Amino acid sequence: MKDVYTLDDLASRAALDEGSEHPARLAVLGSPVAHSLSPQLHQAALDEIGSGSRYIRLEVPAGEVAGALDRLHELNFIGANITVPHKFEALAAADEIDGAATILGAANTILFDDDRKLALNTDGPGFVRAIHEEFLVDVKDLRIMVVGAGGGAGQAIAAQCAQEGCEKLVLVNRSVGKAEELAARLSPCFESERLEGPGERLKVFSLDSPDLMVESGQIDLIINTTSVGLRQTDPSPLPSACLQPHHLVYDTIYNPARTRLLSEASQVGARVANGYSLLLYQGALSFELWFPGQQPLETMRTSLKAALEQSRA
Ligand code: ATR
Repeated sequence: MKDVYTLDDLASRAALDEGSEHPARLAVLGSPVAHSLSPQLHQAALDEIGSGSRYIRLEVPAGEVAGALDRLHELNFIGANITVPHKFEALAAADEIDGAATILGAANTILFDDDRKLALNTDGPGFVRAIHEEFLVDVKDLRIMVVGAGGGAGQAIAAQCAQEGCEKLVLVNRSVGKAEELAARLSPCFESERLEGPGERLKVFSLDSPDLMVESGQIDLIINTTSVGLRQTDPSPLPSACLQPHHLVYDTIYNPARTRLLSEASQVGARVANGYSLLLYQGALSFELWFPGQQPLETMRTSLKAALEQSRA
C-alpha cells in the first residue's frame, strides 16, 4: 500500500492491490495530491458501510486526466474525486455532465457507469450545506461577497450563490478582469424584478478599490476563496477596515484552522468558520453519488477531524 499512487501503478489490478486486503475502487486525482485528506474522509465511510473497497490518492500530471479516468474505468473503479488543478480537465474528459457541474464549469466527482464517465460537482451544494451548518442561515437569503472570484474555487462558489438566487453577489478579485468575465456569465441569474435589476444585485470590485469598505457594509457573508492564508505568515486577503461585527466570515482554507482573516474578523466581533465543513459536505455528497442512499456523515466528520488534527500537529 502506498500513500500516493502514479499512473504506472495502474498497469494491472494485481500491481495496484499488492499488499492490500481490499481492492482500490475509488481515488482522488490531483497534482500534487499527497496532502489530500479525501482518503481518510472516505475510507472511514467505506468501512462503515462494509463496502470492502479501498480509496487511494493518484498523482496525475496535467494533460493525462482523460487517460487516467479511462484506465480507472477499465479497472472497474466505482468513481473518483478530482482536485486541483484537474477539475476543468475532468469535465472535458467526461461522457456526460450533470447540471451542477455544467453551472460550476468544473467537476470534482466522477461516477463510472457501465459504458460512460459521468462528471458531477458537489462543491457548490456542499458549500450551501456548510454555510447552513456553520451559521444557521441559507445562502439564498444573504448578501454575499466572494473574495478571489478569479480562481476555480471562487468561481464555483459564486456560481452556486447565483444559482441559489442570493440577495446580492459582490465579486472581488485582484485582477478585476477575471471577476468581470464571471459576472457576465452569472448575470442572467440576477435579471429578476425583485430589486433594481442586475446592476444592484451583482457587482464587481478590484481588491484595492477604495469603494470596497463602503460596499462591505452592505454585505452579510464574506467568503475567502483565494490561497492567501495557506501559510501561517500570510496576511489577510481583505483590508481589516472592511470587517464589521454583523459579518459572517467563511474562509475556504481549513489548514491553518484560523487564518489572519478569521482572526481579524473575530476581533471585530464577526462570526467566523473555516473550510472544514465545506470539505466534509462536498465529500459526503460525493459518497452519496457513488452509494445512493448512504451518507455516513458522523463517521466522516470524526475521521476528518482526526486527520486534520494529525496534519496540523
Ligand atoms: P485556482 O487554482 O483556484 O484556479 P489560483 O490561481 O490559486 O486558483 O487563484 C485563486 C484566487 O486567489 C484568484 O482569484 C487569485 O487572484 P487573481 O485572479 O488576481 O490571480 C487569488 N490570489 C492568489 N494570490 C493572491 C494574492 N497574493 N492576493 C490576492 N489574491 C490572490
